[in-house]
Amino acid sequence: MLNIVLFGPPGAGKGTQANFLKQSHNLIHISTGDVFRKNIKSRTKLGNLAKSFMDKGLLVPDHVTTEMLKDEVLKNSNCNGFIFDGFPRNVFQAEALKTILFNQGSTVDAMIALEVSDEVLVKRLLNRGKTSGRADDSSEEIVRNRIKVYYSETAILKKYYDKQGKYYGINGVGTIDNITKRLNSVVNKL
Ligand code: AP5
Ligand code: MG
Repeated sequence: MLNIVLFGPPGAGKGTQANFLKQSHNLIHISTGDVFRKNIKSRTKLGNLAKSFMDKGLLVPDHVTTEMLKDEVLKNSNCNGFIFDGFPRNVFQAEALKTILFNQGSTVDAMIALEVSDEVLVKRLLNRGKTSGRADDSSEEIVRNRIKVYYSETAILKKYYDKQGKYYGINGVGTIDNITKRLNSVVNKL
């Protein structure tokens, strides 16, 4: 199995790049944000709960998110590997992921972080907000709050994976195609 944590702040391009990577390397893409948004659309109990946090740019509670992630992994336990997009977002979630994969006889192979400056992130997200219908893209205040939450709760995971020799940082600014090439040059060496 090849398991990649595709990491980066809101708007870094995780979803965009995961779509290419999953095809070129035959991996299952799990975006916790996308799974939450599907649940919001179909008005499930999980969706209603998640919405109350997501609309403010806050993290959904860990136990809810990790259970959901576990279900997604178990649904695909015979696959080639996973791209985790938007998960883990703190050490609790990283430890949970370790256990979930260990129980599948597997592990995280690499954490690849897309590095993008805050001002570029804000621009990208507000631009998407004009058409996405995503409540958390709709105001600069919420977008900046998501970025703040990333620095205060999530960015620490770079150190967490670096200590395990699994951290790779790449420049996430440039054309989508160039960033895909940078990403592939890391993945192809794993
Ligand atoms: P989530 O859905 O994960 O959103 P996010 O991390 O805030 O980031 P985005 O999905 O908005 O950005 P992205 O990095 O995927 O970039 P994208 O490719 O879309 O999470 C949403 C919420 O769900 C969280 O705030 C939280 O509430 C909850 N949640 C999710 N996971 C959780 C967890 N594990 N624990 C707790 N809560 C959780 O690109 C962004 C835009 O930029 C697009 O318009 C794209 O077209 C454009 N773009 C991409 N690449 C480029 C480029 N190279 N040049 C120019 N534009 C580009
Ligand atoms: Mg995304």
